[in-house]
Amino acid sequence: MKVKALIAMAVSLGLSAAHAQEMSDEAIKERTKPYGELNVAGAQTAAATTAKARTPEEIFNGACAMCHASGLMGAPRANNAADWQPRLDERGLDGVWQNALNGINAMPPRGTCTDCSDDDIKATIEYMIEGI
Ligand code: HEC
Repeated sequence: MKVKALIAMAVSLGLSAAHAQEMSDEAIKERTKPYGELNVAGAQTAAATTAKARTPEEIFNGACAMCHASGLMGAPRANNAADWQPRLDERGLDGVWQNALNGINAMPPRGTCTDCSDDDIKATIEYMIEGI
C-alpha cells in the first residue's frame, strides 16, 4: 500500500515535470519566433478581421485605416488627392500596387493583411483613391 502510494506520487511528479518541460519549450518557441510574426496587437486584430472580410471597404477598415485614415507615419490619407496624386503621377497604379505588396519604408508588406490576395490589395488601393 505504502509502496503504491510512493509510486503514484513519483508518477505524478514525473508527469508534472514533463508538463513543465513542455511549457518551457512553448515559451522558448514563443520567444524565438521570427521577428515578422511578432506583431502589434492592432495589426493582429486587423488580420483576423480581414480573414473573413473581403470587400475592399472591409479590408481597408480592418487593415489599412489605422494608418491611411489619419496619415500615421506619413501614410497617404485615403481619398486625399494631395497625398496620392504625386505617387500616382510617378509610379502609376501598378507602381503603388507593387510597393503595397512588397512594403515600402513604414508601409508593411500587404499593409499587414497577410491573407489578402494581390487583387484584394489592388481593389483596396482603388477604394482608397476612388474619391480623389
Ligand atoms: C502601419 C501603417 C500602415 C498600414 C497598416 C498600411 N499602410 Fe500603406 N502606407 C503606410 C505608409 C507610412 C506609407 C508611405 C510609405 C512611403 O512612401 O514612405 C504607405 C503607402 C502606401 C501606398 C503607396 C505606395 C507608393 O508607392 O507610394 C499604398 C498603395 C498603400 N500604402 C496601401 C496600403 C493598403 C492597401 C493597406 C491595407 C491593406 C495599407 N497600405 C496599410 C503605412 C501603412
